[in-house]
Amino acid sequence: MAATLKLWRNAQLATCDAALGVIGRGALVTRGGRIEWVGSEAALPASLIASAAAGGAPEEHDLGGAWVTPGLIDCHTHLVFAGNRAGEYAERLRGRSYAEIARAGGGILSTMRAVRGASEQQLIDESSPRLAALASEGVTTLEVKSGYGLTLADEAKMLRAARHLGRRFPLTVRTTLLAAHTLPPEYQGRADAYIDTIARHWLPELAAQGLIDAVDVFCESIAFSVAQAERLFEAARASGLPVKIHAEQLTNLGGTLMAASHGALSCDHLEYADGPEAAALARSGTVAVLLPVAFYCLAEGRKPPVAALRAAGAAMALASDCNPGSAPGASLLLAMSMGTRLFGLTAEEALLGVTRHAARALGLEAERGSLSPGKAADFVVWNVRAVEELSYWIGFNPRRTVVRAGEVLRWPNMTP
Ligand code: NIG
Ligand code: FE
Repeated sequence: MAATLKLWRNAQLATCDAALGVIGRGALVTRGGRIEWVGSEAALPASLIASAAAGGAPEEHDLGGAWVTPGLIDCHTHLVFAGNRAGEYAERLRGRSYAEIARAGGGILSTMRAVRGASEQQLIDESSPRLAALASEGVTTLEVKSGYGLTLADEAKMLRAARHLGRRFPLTVRTTLLAAHTLPPEYQGRADAYIDTIARHWLPELAAQGLIDAVDVFCESIAFSVAQAERLFEAARASGLPVKIHAEQLTNLGGTLMAASHGALSCDHLEYADGPEAAALARSGTVAVLLPVAFYCLAEGRKPPVAALRAAGAAMALASDCNPGSAPGASLLLAMSMGTRLFGLTAEEALLGVTRHAARALGLEAERGSLSPGKAADFVVWNVRAVEELSYWIGFNPRRTVVRAGEVLRWPNMTP
């Protein structure tokens, strides 16, 4: 059976193709799960309508003049985990630092214990509401990292849970191996040996099982060194996988410069980065992924160098960083609000940061992130008068309709 041709008309399109790419009275034509045509309604090619008519009545959707953007992309999450760390948050409110808690065996290790003790099904069940919350805001593509298992079996369990969520929910899940998140107790004092185990055994094994789309590393004084991160990058290349890095979040170690020299997809956090890092990211085409929810929850004093990134022409993305420690939340719209108010992004930069640039941070720019012919027919119809409202509202979700792979998603049927 031929894929259904659908016409979505009477819309204000923010195509996010080049800048916002606004088309005032626009239309989209989708065939199956792909966009076939985008443009001003007046320019709709008669041949397309005729071909639809030949295959029966075209399915027509009048969007009533509403704003339409590409489906949102959350390009940095640790969404699959068990338990929570509200107790640690209370301690941080009393003045204890994130790094102090981590050094005392809490932090990521505390969630590691919860994840090791959870079954794959429990991980799926605990993570589903977070995923549903993101999806209800119009997120149609989501990255999920491992990094709370820290054994081969437990990392594989997390990655399988993430893949399962992608099959069970109407959104695309990309998985990232973050076994180098922190040093597990089994390797205390033997960080190089741990990196070696990941590089030689876990990474090739999990890649062979088709469980990973990219490799990430937490490069930080409380985690792994630049040399160790580079060792993993070499192993990732040997397995044909792209790389990304958590860098310059709490200190400046030089991870960004190294990652840019390896053509990393993205460098994430970047509070302690500056001009040289911005220039290197722009040169290598590596996306700067900014995570304002973590900045907010850690009460971080230093902001990422947005002006330098902008001046250098580096692409900036925004993500939720959904995780139980530094960013306990599941709202990409909140990350957009915080990205504008706390980091100084413009409304346009915030929207491109969760569409076009977020797609690039996942190596998906050819397939998603903008309303362009050939790309996935993932888009969101919004109850807003101006597209700037997407980074303006706080704790209010103006999503009207989500179309994923050319199909309208029905709410509240999002529960798995
Ligand atoms: O992106 N920086 C390291 N990883 C996470 C935090 C993980 C955690 O605290 O559980 C982040 O902020
Ligand atoms: Fe993170």
